[in-house]
Amino acid sequence: MNYYLQILLTKHLNPVFASGALVVPASMYFLLKKFIIKPYYLRRNKQKALEKDEKTSSQVKEARAAAEKAQKLQENVANRKRNKQLETGGLVIMRALYGNERVLCNLNSSSETSLESTSEVIDVTIPLNFLVNDSGQLKLHEGVKKSGIMGFCDPCPGEPKQLYIEYAYAGNEYKVSVGDYEELIIPQGAHRI
Ligand SMILES: *[C@@H]1O[C@H](CO)[C@@H](O)[C@H](O)[C@H]1NC(C)=O
Ligand SMILES: *[C@@H]1O[C@H](CO)[C@@H](O)[C@H](O)[C@H]1NC(C)=O
Repeated sequence: MNYYLQILLTKHLNPVFASGALVVPASMYFLLKKFIIKPYYLRRNKQKALEKDEKTSSQVKEARAAAEKAQKLQENVANRKRNKQLETGGLVIMRALYGNERVLCNLNSSSETSLESTSEVIDVTIPLNFLVNDSGQLKLHEGVKKSGIMGFCDPCPGEPKQLYIEYAYAGNEYKVSVGDYEELIIPQGAHRI
């Protein structure tokens, strides 16, 4: 800012006046603010916002890569559990998505489009099948952010998030959505489609 001020003062005002002009006249101040100071800060804020976006997107990339790695590790056990549940008519997670609430709320209107590929949602079918216990139940505790669950990540930092699940139990189909900090216990009759 000082830089711009100096340029303005030396360029457009008589130097003698300028050197004594620590008190900028009100009208002058208004002009300064409007044409120099404000645009300068706007530009700077824009730049800062851009840098922040870039930082966030590289963090998300890393988190996604870590989640993918974790899911690879879980995959065998998750498949084994799922197959066992399938055989016994137990709990099978058919499709589970975690991420931006706004995106997930549009699931309906966007029919079966491949939401899995949008940047603000992560597919968590594997980690949830992994967490189904021997009696065919799955419980996620209240007050625990779901992005911390193994195989999950936060695909949209700072946005409200949801977990959306379609599951099968005893030959019926169910679906449910829960908030990031909400408890989840399935199966539950109320979720039946
Ligand atoms: C989704 O669609 C069903 C009926 O097709 C409707 O009952 C439900 O309210 C919709 N949900 C959302 C989140 O739009
Ligand atoms: C499975 O989870 C449910 C719900 O948390 C619990 O009540 C049940 O005891 C668990 N069963 C086993 C075998 O761990």
